[in-house]
Order: sequence, then C-alpha cells, then structure tokens
Amino acid sequence: MAEFKLPANSVVQPGKTFSAPAGARNVKRFNVYRYDPSSGQNPFLNTYELDLDACGPMVLDAILKIKNEVDPTLAFRRSCREGICGSCSMNINGANDLACTKAIADFEGEVSIYPLPHLPVIKDLVCDLTNFYAQHASVEPWMKTDSPTPPDSERLQSKEDRSKLDGLYECILCACCSTSCPSYWWNSDRYLGPAALLNAYRWIADSRDEATGERLDALEDPFKLYRCHTIMNCTNVCPKSLNPAEAIGEIKKMMVQRRL
Ligand code: SF4
Ligand code: SF4
Ligand code: FES
Repeated sequence: MAEFKLPANSVVQPGKTFSAPAGARNVKRFNVYRYDPSSGQNPFLNTYELDLDACGPMVLDAILKIKNEVDPTLAFRRSCREGICGSCSMNINGANDLACTKAIADFEGEVSIYPLPHLPVIKDLVCDLTNFYAQHASVEPWMKTDSPTPPDSERLQSKEDRSKLDGLYECILCACCSTSCPSYWWNSDRYLGPAALLNAYRWIADSRDEATGERLDALEDPFKLYRCHTIMNCTNVCPKSLNPAEAIGEIKKMMVQRRL
C-alpha cells in the first residue's frame, strides 16, 4: 500500500515568504505571526504576497485567501464576517481591530498581523480568552430582581431609561479594548478590564435591575475597578465605537455618590 504523505503545503514553513502568483499586478504583502507552543519552536513571521485583484476588500478576506489557497496551516478565529460575533479580533499594524470590518485599502504598504496583545497564544492568531470570559461572567451579566414578576406583562422600562443602555448593550466581547489597556496587560489577574466593566455598568444602568448596591459592592476593590487610570486606549480602539472609559467613569462616580 502506498505510504500516505501530507501535501507539501500542510507543513508549517518558518520564516518563508509565499510569493505572489505569476502575473499578479496588484500585490500586497501580509506579515503574519505564527506560533505553535506545542512545537517547541519560537514564534516567527510568514510573509504572504497576495494579488489584491483576486481578493476581497477586508483584512479577513486576505486571511481567508491565505488559509484557503496558500497556507492551510494558519490558525485564526472568525465566524460572522460582519462585525457581530467578535471572534476575528487581532492586532493589525499595531492596533487591535476586527479583521472582517477593516479594509485592506486603509493600509499603505505592508500589513502586519499579530494576535491580540498580552494574552496566551493557543496557535498563531488564536488567543486564550478563558480569563477574559471568566471576568465577564464574574460581573453576573444578567438582570437580577427581588420583586415579583408582573403577572400580566414584562418588566417595563420607559424610553428614557431604555436609552441609557445605548452604547453599552452593543458590546460584542471582542476583547480589543481590554487587550489594548496597559493596566490590563500588567494586572489582568485582578483588574477586570474595560470590557467586563462596561458590561457591569450595562446592568448597573438598567432601571429594571434591582441589584445595583450588590453590584457596586462587588466592584469596590483596589484592583477590580480602580486600576483604570483613564488612559483611553479602550475607547480609541473599540470597533463598535463604544466608550468603556466613560462607563468606568460612571461606576466610579456612583461609588463616590453613595458614600456622600
Ligand atoms: S481608560 Fe481605563 S480601561 Fe480604558 S485603556 Fe485606560 S486604563 Fe484601560
Ligand atoms: S467594549 Fe468594544 S472593544 Fe471592548 S469588548 Fe466590547 S465591543 Fe469589543
Ligand atoms: S468574523 Fe465576526 S466580528 Fe469579524
């Protein structure tokens, strides 16, 4: 029986530049971080030259083209392809963003793609978000009530109260904000970070929730909340144009007000 051999392109090739196809006239170079902790090798970059005339317009289109047509060993996350699932977050030319909503045309010259900063890497562009999700769960992101549920209606909210949730409920948990925050880089074991705090405030600000005091008590901690030094990286990078720094400021304000 013939020996089974892996196709040549299914083997990782450290440092290799994958040249553009012959005849390509609109070539762009993508430098992509590669790392497989289980291999025992150090991280390295691969460079992929793509013909943009045969590629979709977004950075995710380029990554999919690499995966499908050039180098199937590349690992990354994606799902929705339209800025909703939050799974394609990565660092593109130095800024955290969603690859699916970032246009290649926004970058002059080469494009360098790395995983989100300061997270353990599982493989290539796939980070370990276990701590990030645990922090989100720790703020108990669901409505908590003590009063009986109205027998014949939902728990209603005025239009004005509902509008207070705008800019909060839209978070897609992409982690672009938390992984761009220097305080989170150094203290992510104890500082909750902008994403978890924005989601904590989403429930604190909800007029139907009856656990405001309990939620503020849980955040009254030198690290969980107060490691935010208003550096604003979080707000600057949020691909949904949310403002975690402002939400954190509102929580701090409520902490002061309840002491008066
Ligand atoms: S404002 Fe706070 S949460 Fe946002 S980046 Fe700065 S320190 Fe981090
Ligand atoms: S606040 Fe923005 S950057 Fe942060 S996790 Fe939510 S959507 Fe992503
Ligand atoms: S693939 Fe879902 S946000 Fe990019």
